[in-house]
Amino acid sequence: MTTALYPGSFDPITLGHLDVIERAAGVFDKLVVGVLVNPRKSPLLPLDERIESIREAASEQLGDLARRVEVASFDGLTVDFARRLGAGFIVRGLRAVSDFESELQMAHTNRKLAPNVDTIFFMTALEHAYLSSSLVKEIAGFGGDVSRMVPESVARRLSG
Ligand code: PNS
Repeated sequence: MTTALYPGSFDPITLGHLDVIERAAGVFDKLVVGVLVNPRKSPLLPLDERIESIREAASEQLGDLARRVEVASFDGLTVDFARRLGAGFIVRGLRAVSDFESELQMAHTNRKLAPNVDTIFFMTALEHAYLSSSLVKEIAGFGGDVSRMVPESVARRLSG
């Protein structure tokens, strides 16, 4: 069984993330979405709601593929979590060339730390390529409408 880890802050999960989850779940037997416990800035959604909203988004929008998706929190190094899971792959999304430099550095660093864990990139779907959690966070913070940028599970929480 091939297991992959998709790590991130997911504060909140966007439609771009969900697209990557769907496509990665079509490739790997099991995809663990790893939610980093401490995002750098104060979170829009607390950890438990970030996790729950990803679970709900997967079960509401990914159909049968949702069975391959697990969501768990982690603290510390991504490669250590990958090893604990027995995951041979780290999944990341690339939206634009601007993502490439930092993602390349992270992939090389992770491979140095854990040579048996490889990073696989998915190109984020074009219609979601402009999206970022930090923009969603800013818009939501000012009471703006983010319902076309995030799964319904997140929109419900932000409007509730
Ligand atoms: O959603 P993000 O903020 O783009 O995700 C970044 C993340 C969580 C993948 C990265 O910060 C990370 O892996 N953090 C865990 C600590 C770690 O392993 N650092 C070394 C990475 S080279």
